[in-house]
Amino acid sequence: MDKIVIQGGKPLRGTVAVSGAKNAVLPVLAATLLTSGKNEILNAPQVRDVSTMAHLLVELGAELEHFEGGRVVLDTSRVNNPEAPYDLVRTMRASCLVLGPLLARLGQARVSLPGGCAIGARPVDLHIKGLEALGAKISLEEGYIVGTTNGLKGAHYFFDTVSVTGTANIMMAATLADGETILENAAREPEVAFLGELLNRCGAKISGAGEDVVTIQGVASLEPFQCRIFPDRIEAATYLISGAITGGEVEVVDCIPHHIEPLILKLREAGFLVEEGEDRVKISGNDRPVSVNIKTQPHPGFATDIQAQFMALMTLARGQSIVTESVFENRFMHVAELRRMGADIEVRGNTAIVRGVERLSGAPVMATDLRASASLVLAALAAQGESVISRVYHIDRGYERMENKFSQLGADIQRVK
Ligand code: EPZ
Repeated sequence: MDKIVIQGGKPLRGTVAVSGAKNAVLPVLAATLLTSGKNEILNAPQVRDVSTMAHLLVELGAELEHFEGGRVVLDTSRVNNPEAPYDLVRTMRASCLVLGPLLARLGQARVSLPGGCAIGARPVDLHIKGLEALGAKISLEEGYIVGTTNGLKGAHYFFDTVSVTGTANIMMAATLADGETILENAAREPEVAFLGELLNRCGAKISGAGEDVVTIQGVASLEPFQCRIFPDRIEAATYLISGAITGGEVEVVDCIPHHIEPLILKLREAGFLVEEGEDRVKISGNDRPVSVNIKTQPHPGFATDIQAQFMALMTLARGQSIVTESVFENRFMHVAELRRMGADIEVRGNTAIVRGVERLSGAPVMATDLRASASLVLAALAAQGESVISRVYHIDRGYERMENKFSQLGADIQRVK
C-alpha cells in the first residue's frame, strides 16, 4: 500500500491546472450504454474511479477502443450483459449509475447493491423508487438490485432528498421511456446540467437539466456522442485551499470559478485575497485566517465535497468556526486524524466546532475516504514537520497525480511504496 510523506510548513507558490471532473465523467460513461456505437470522451481525469467504470462497461459488453491520455473511446454496439458484478460495484458506489441505462437499453439489470462507505449508509432507495415510478419491476436478491421492464413509461417523480446520481440515473432512463417524465427536487449540480446537455446532443428531449424540475420527453433511440469533460470543481477547490492553508500564493487554472463561488466567498470572509479570472482563480494571503462558519448544502450551496478540506483550513484560523454537514450523516472521519496533528475539534452530531490553533504538527495519519484524504494532505502541507499518510488509494480514486501537482507548487511531498 502506497503512502504519502510530506515535510510541511512551506508556503506553496505557483500555478496548477485542473483535470476533468470525476463526477461528470462517471455518469457520461454510464450514458454510453444508452447509445449503440462509438462514443469518444476527451479530458477524462486519469483516476481510479474512471478505470473502474470503464472496466464495468466492458463487463457489460462495451468495447474499450482507447483509454489513455484522458481520451476514452467506447463502442457500445454489442452491450448485451445486464449484470454489474459485486467485485466491481463494491469499490465504487457510482456503479449504480448503470442501473437506469441498462433498464432503458436491455429491459433488465442486475447491479450489486453498493457496499457501505466511510461517509454514511448511502442507500440507493431514491434510485429504486424512481425506476419503479418509470414502470420497472425491482427486487433485491442476494445483495443485487434486480430490475426488469417491458418498456419504461414516463412518470412524475419527486425526490424525497436531493440526490446527484439519483437524478442522473432516472434522467438517463427517462430519455428512452415512452412519454413524458417530470423529475422534481432534482439535483442542480453542474454535472447534472452537463449530462442533460450531452444527452440532448444525442437526440434526447430534456429541459431543465441542472434545475430542480427536469422534464424529459422519451425518444426511440440516442446517437453516440463525442464530448469534452469540464474541469473538476472539487479538485480546483482543493488546490485553492492549499494556497490558503500554507500562506502562499496559488493560481488554479483551467477551472470554472463560478462552480466554486461559495468557497471563494468564504475564503474572502476568512481574510484571503481571491482574484477570479475567466478560467482561473488566484489566492494569496499569509496572515492567519479568520474563522468563518460553513454549512454544506446541495448545489448551489457550499459543496459537501469541500467540507473536509475547508475544515483543515479552519483548524489554523483565529477564533472558533462551526462546520455543519447537512448532506451526509457521517462525514467527519477526518476529524480524528486532524486531531492527531494538533487540531482542536469537537463533534456534536452533524456539527463540528473547530477552535483554531497556532500551528499543526506532522504525524502519521490514515485516509478514510476521498475528500477526508485531501483534508489530511492539506493539513500536512501546513503542519510543522513530517506527516505520513497511509491508505492513499482513496486519493487515487479522485485526484489525478496529486503529488506531482503539489510538487509543482513547491511542496516537499513523496509517494513511497
Ligand atoms: C454524489 O454522490 C457525488 N458522487 C459525491 O461525491 C457527493 O458527495 C454527493 O453527490 C453529494 O454532492 C458522484 O457524483 C459520483 P447523493 P451521490 O445521492 O449521488 C442520500 C466524491 O467525493 N441518499 O446526492 O451518491 C445520501 O445518503 C463523492 O467525489 C438517499 O438517502 O450522493 C446522502 O445523504 C463522495 N437515498 C444524500 O442523499 C438515495 O437513494 C445525498 O446523496 C440516494 C441518496
